[in-house]
Amino acid sequence: MRSIQQDIIQKTLTQLTWMALSAFLVGCGGGSSSSTPTNTTITTSAGISEYTTLSLTNLSNYAAPVLPVYYDETTVALDNTPSNSAVRNQIATLGRVLFYDKRLSINDTISCSSCHQQASGFDDPRRFSVGFSGATFTTAHAMRLGNIRFYQPGSMFWDKRATSIELQASQPIQHPIEMGFTAGVGGIPALINKMNASSYYPDLFSFAFGDAVITETRIQQALGQFQRAMISSNSRWDTAYAQVFNPNANNRGLGTPLPGFTVQEDRGRQLFIAGPNNGGAGCSACHQPPTFALAANSRSNGLDAGETVLFKSPSLKNVALSKAFMHDGRFASLEEVVEHYNSGVKLGPALDGNRLAPNGVPLRLSLSADDKAALVSFMKTLTDTTLTTDPKFSDPFKK
Ligand code: HEC
Ligand code: HEC
Repeated sequence: MRSIQQDIIQKTLTQLTWMALSAFLVGCGGGSSSSTPTNTTITTSAGISEYTTLSLTNLSNYAAPVLPVYYDETTVALDNTPSNSAVRNQIATLGRVLFYDKRLSINDTISCSSCHQQASGFDDPRRFSVGFSGATFTTAHAMRLGNIRFYQPGSMFWDKRATSIELQASQPIQHPIEMGFTAGVGGIPALINKMNASSYYPDLFSFAFGDAVITETRIQQALGQFQRAMISSNSRWDTAYAQVFNPNANNRGLGTPLPGFTVQEDRGRQLFIAGPNNGGAGCSACHQPPTFALAANSRSNGLDAGETVLFKSPSLKNVALSKAFMHDGRFASLEEVVEHYNSGVKLGPALDGNRLAPNGVPLRLSLSADDKAALVSFMKTLTDTTLTTDPKFSDPFKK
């Protein structure tokens, strides 16, 4: 067992890593990770320039995100960056190529970005995503990826079955519907052979890791670093909250009316933040500001009677850009989502009884039509077009 003191030291180190080390990395171009050499020599590569628009001498900044002050130690403590994988621009840049490369599917038709589209907050506008065959579909809705960095370990996928962003990354590649590198066709080793034969991956791995060896672990690490850089902190809500945030105020200023919000949006803010005992709808007890990622101790939200699976939710940042909601995409609008919490919560073993069925009775919010509309308006203020248009998260391939 770790002592509390050890935990505190660990937390302090994480904060230091975040604040100081990442700033240091920008200056020196890397060198923190135990497994990654510092002196990258490659600055040009015929293969990389033939296939991509990348400049190896002018990298985007992934390693040192500029965070608002309200992403303070409480939020930073949620950072799931592994201690041996501090984000480096070279590795995250490789991750960007991997994320957009259709060659990661067995027949060169599907990339991660086919289902996680930047313009949709890295979600898929379709309820179910089409796989490499073009004719079969996923059975779950794709997930937005913004703020994925702020989830505790052991919570990737709707049912939290993957223990880390790294281990998650191999699964779509090997999936029989998604990208098709199943064991039967050679699995990840077959993909690695294909990458070794390409004219750009050996150079990109040298650039990122100091040698051209392609391994599953390195693929996972690069995809993990790229996705962890997808931080959302520039929605209208962020701009407004930055003006009222106060670490010493009650609830850190989350209960304060927000400047620039319409009356309806601010009513939605109030409902979202306040608990049912205080005239609110209690949403923020699970979908926690400022990341709007799900609280670590949240349980399921009562979509189906008798549900036994503990589900998570992606961060609600950019939720209004999605077109299907919940793990199976069952709702087609935010209005339907709000109506679920208003009148549809059902009992079951996985339900978060504390929050959604106090005294064993499913919560009935009995919201007015105006209040339901206000909640929807508020969720629209979480749209962050910086994340959805930032070139560093865009397709690096030449068309
Ligand atoms: C064919 C569509 C498809 C492709 C291709 C795909 N995904 Fe996904 N992704 C999904 C779906 C659907 C889910 C939810 C699956 C589930 O929970 O069972 C998901 C979930 C995830 C999650 C979990 C997010 C969270 O908050 O728990 C991550 C991370 C992710 N995908 C990254 C990737 C990466 C990286 C790639 C490429 C290597 C990729 N995906 C390829 C459809 C896809
Ligand atoms: C007990 C914790 C909890 C509370 C309280 C809660 N939610 Fe959720 N929310 C979840 C979980 C868990 C999911 C994912 C459920 C699933 O797909 O099975 C979810 C999903 C969602 C989604 C869909 C996300 C997506 O990407 O599809 C929206 C939107 C949402 N909640 C909004 C709200 C609003 C608005 C409120 C307040 C009225 C609220 N939630 C209250 C736990 C909670």
